[in-house]
Parts: sequence; structure tokens; C-alpha cells
Amino acid sequence: MNTKIIKKNNTDEAAQIIKNGGIVAFPTETVYGLGANALEAKAVKKIFAAKGRPADNPLIVHIADKEQINILSKEITDNAKKLIDAFMPGPITVILKKSDIIPNEVSAGLDTVGIRFPGNETARKFIAASGVPIAAPSANISGKPSPTKAKHVMEDMMGRIEGIIDGDDCAVGVESTIVDASSERPSLLRPGGITVEKLREVCPDLQIDPHVLESVNEGEQPRCPGMKYKHYAPKAKVIVVEGECANVRKKINEIIERNNGKIIGVLTMYDSAYDGAIIIDGGNDNKTYANKLFGALREFDDLGANMIIAEFCDCDGYGLAVKNRLYKAAAYNIVNV
Ligand code: TXA
Ligand code: MG
Repeated sequence: MNTKIIKKNNTDEAAQIIKNGGIVAFPTETVYGLGANALEAKAVKKIFAAKGRPADNPLIVHIADKEQINILSKEITDNAKKLIDAFMPGPITVILKKSDIIPNEVSAGLDTVGIRFPGNETARKFIAASGVPIAAPSANISGKPSPTKAKHVMEDMMGRIEGIIDGDDCAVGVESTIVDASSERPSLLRPGGITVEKLREVCPDLQIDPHVLESVNEGEQPRCPGMKYKHYAPKAKVIVVEGECANVRKKINEIIERNNGKIIGVLTMYDSAYDGAIIIDGGNDNKTYANKLFGALREFDDLGANMIIAEFCDCDGYGLAVKNRLYKAAAYNIVNV
């Protein structure tokens, strides 16, 4: 298939692909998405094929107008209403009871649907021009780090989809915060661009699903089906070293020494320097680190790294989102010092 690269101000051309039943990658403020008409099962199936995504992993539905929520959902709970009023448009997905209009291919057999109203201008123009809600997962091959730049999408999706909007780099850089507000007590299923601190200002009784930081055991059915799959994994093995700065540096130096001869990449957050390793600076705060994380994992692969070590410190603000992505990227290979 010939994949068309579409200029970001040409959202009408991308929308035309959707109208013809095709799939298009588009920028959002979180990560790039891979979109299809959410109301057309045949188009939605193409997303699963292009990504190699398991059919039991549901898709988020993207809108460009809050009114659409009434059509997509059967019941908007009080907590959902508060979250929608406070944070949409923005980097949040709210899970609600789905209406019958949503095909099973989107909801993967669940009775709920995740709804997201992106803040990114190109995304909004594209969705509005399409005239339908857009089902979209992140635009990476399943299992790989999510794309935060158009070039990441091109690496994964050229030849597999009809079009890619060549938009800006993603401002947040990790996927949306997912809150299940379909029942009485709201639950955080994935930390992201809207922090727990901010969510609790609106929903004080928000609980955090244990699988945000813990692996899913064989046979378990997590509330967020995506939690059970391999995620964000570059080719290289990833190790997270977390703790106090001096201890982290000491431990990483030991690992580098023990693996003499291997190409080792280190993603730093303390301006650390390591002899014998390739360094990518993750910045000094969790927000910057979150923004650089997925790109850095891909870059280490491009540089031929055999092993990637990530420094990590604390969990405030964006820290929970970083920790969640790092733990999954490392398949829970964590050293606490
Ligand atoms: O920021 C984002 O959310 C990006 C951009 C493109 O909008 N999208 C994204 O989609 O990250 P995806 O498919 O890569 O991740 C969505 C996650 C999956 O783990 C999926 O299992 C979960 O959301 N999910 C989707 N619908 C759900 C539902 N009804 N109930 C529980 N989890 C759901
Ligand atoms: Mg994804």
C-alpha cells in the first residue's frame, strides 16, 4: 500500500481517507493516533491488522465536540460529568457505559467505551472534518514505544496505512490519563497528562487501579485490557534503577562495568555522566522526562544499544505516568537502591 504523507494544514485530505473507509495516523498532544471511522466495523478492523493488535484490546473513541458524548454513551455519571467539564479538551480518556452505536470491534466485547477529546488543534480539525467519531489507538506497531513524532509513525506504519498527517511533535509525550467513571467510584486505569493530584481536586474519592504499577498475572482479567500486554518495548533490554541519586549512579556504574563490551544507553534525570555508555538527557523533572521517554527508547535502538538503563527518582505529578511506562518497558526489571 502507498502511504500518503499529508501536510498538517491539509486535514481535509486526511478526513477524505476516513470517509472512504481508510485509516490515517494523526498527531495529538499525547502521542500519535491511528484513526478510523469509529462507527464502521470494517474500517476499525484495519487498525488491528496494521498494528498487529490483539482483537480483545478495545480502542478509544476521539471526538471534536462534547455533544458527541451523548450519542456514544448510555449514561454519563456525575463523576464523568465533572471530569469532562474540568479536563476536556485535553489529555484524558473517560470510560463510560457505551451506547449501541459503538461496534463490538471498538469495545472488544466490553459494555463500556473510552472517550477522548484531544486538545491538539490538528487532531481536532481532522476529527471535525471527518464528521464522525474516530477510533484510535497509539500509532505504533503493537508492543513498541508509542510514537511522539511523525517520523516514529513513518518508521512503523509506512506501507501499512493510507495516510500519515505530518504534524508537530507531541507536547505531552505519554498517552492520556484513563479514568473509569462508568460506575459509582472512579478509578485511574492509566496515569498520564492529567495528574492524580489534579484528578482528585475534582474527584476526591478516585482510586488507583493496582495494575498501574503491578504486573498482570497469567489468566487475570484487568479492567483495562491493554494492561496485560507487552508494552513500550524497544529491541534492547531495559532496566530501571530507582532511588536516591547517589545510589542510582553507583548502581548504574556497577551495571556498566559488569557488562563491559555491550553497547549501553542510559536515560538520565540527574545530569549524570557515565563513562562507556551512550547518554540521553531526560531532563530534570518528570514532565520533561515523560516527554522524552518514548523517543529516547527508539533512539537507543537506532544507536544499536544492547541494554538501556533508565534513572528514576520520585512519583509526584507526572512521575506516576513515567513510572508506569518505565516499568512496562522494562517488563518489571527494576532495581531499587
Ligand atoms: O493518548 C491516548 O490515549 C492515545 C491517543 C492516540 O489518543 N491513545 C492510546 O490508545 O493510547 P491505546 O489503544 O494505545 O491505549 C488505550 C488503552 C488500552 O490499554 C486499552 O485496553 C484501554 O485503553 N481501553 C480502551 N477502551 C477501554 C475500555 N472501554 N475499558 C477499559 N480500558 C479501555
Ligand atoms: Mg498503545
